[in-house]
Amino acid sequence: MADSTKTLKIYGQNAIIFFKANENLLDVLNDNKISINQSCGANGSCTTCRVFVRSDESCFSERSEIEIERTEERSFAENERLACQTYLLDSATIEIPEDDIF
Ligand code: FES
Repeated sequence: MADSTKTLKIYGQNAIIFFKANENLLDVLNDNKISINQSCGANGSCTTCRVFVRSDESCFSERSEIEIERTEERSFAENERLACQTYLLDSATIEIPEDDIF
């Protein structure tokens, strides 16, 4: 049986985080005490929890409808995601923009 534990690396930080597939990215970051802004209670409205995907985008869930709206409003880059609206599917690397770390 394959090991279901996956790893999340944070670009520029010495953190390797373990998670199970389909966990919410913001929850995983919070559970592991990784600093990231989150001003709206994870409802997808503030966009302060944005991260950049530094690995294969297939390791992440598809964008939710609310994330698609925010992406269009804010002209997000293709690899820019809202942590609160994103689920981790497989081992991956993300970058948290420095201005978003509190
Ligand atoms: S915490 Fe506000 S959009 Fe994610």
